[in-house]
Amino acid sequence: MTPAQSAQSAPKEPTSLYGGSRNRRVTVRDLAAAKRRGEKWPMLTAYDAMTASVFDESGIPVLLVGDSMGNCHLGYETTVPVTMDEVAMLSAAVVRGTERALVVGDLPFGSYQEGPAQALRHATRLVKEAGVGAVKLEGGERSLPQTELLVSAGIPVMSHLGLTPQSVNAMGYRVQGRSEEDAHTLLRDAKAAQDAGAFAVVLELVPAQLAAEVTRSLHIPTVGIGAGPDTDAQVLVWTDMAGLTPGRMPRFAKQYARMRETLGDAAAAFAEDVAGGSFPQAEHTFS
Ligand code: KIV
Repeated sequence: MTPAQSAQSAPKEPTSLYGGSRNRRVTVRDLAAAKRRGEKWPMLTAYDAMTASVFDESGIPVLLVGDSMGNCHLGYETTVPVTMDEVAMLSAAVVRGTERALVVGDLPFGSYQEGPAQALRHATRLVKEAGVGAVKLEGGERSLPQTELLVSAGIPVMSHLGLTPQSVNAMGYRVQGRSEEDAHTLLRDAKAAQDAGAFAVVLELVPAQLAAEVTRSLHIPTVGIGAGPDTDAQVLVWTDMAGLTPGRMPRFAKQYARMRETLGDAAAAFAEDVAGGSFPQAEHTFS
């Protein structure tokens, strides 16, 4: 076999974001370089150390400890009640469970809206206490002073535009940027976030054509969720991706496994074994 053939048959890294950097975490500079190379990358949410370690071992380069933990992990109806203590605790767990991924901690509702000083206090807590490599905050123009201060303090900021779930009470859950005026505002906000120093912009529930235009207009990566195929990266909430979330899937989410069914079947089989006396057996028992 020639070296070229053996290289072809070698297991493929999911993305060259990993090339030569096996023993260090992915950084925001790696993501900037990926954009320059035209390389797409995946991001998943994570809320605990064990699940995060699985994603880290699978080569997911960026893990977001999203405030979607509210609906997907903590049993709230929305992201609004999520607190700083909850984000800090789960972010620390995700950092402990991973070696390679850049971990991004989400600033929850009420932790940065008062102004830049409040944002800096809470972002600093996530960096120092939890060990995250970056933070995310929602909003365009209204969050620019926060972004500028955090970036000037050395904290990488991921911006979040389009549908911003922390404003669900004001905007509802619907596609954003459909009118010409809204599309113009979104494009302006994305450029302003970039100018304020953000290293990436999440675009949630945005028409594909607009997301493509934003992606072409920025030199920082865009991360789409319900924003079509042309963003630089794609993010999914892990429980949607793995088929653990109950009920109807959002149209933009693809299920790659059926974890709800698998876990349910496993729990039911365990219950049956216990009730029938077939667990534990000799091999599970100490003499
Ligand atoms: O909290 C979250 O999971 C998010 C993603 C959907 C981008 O903000």
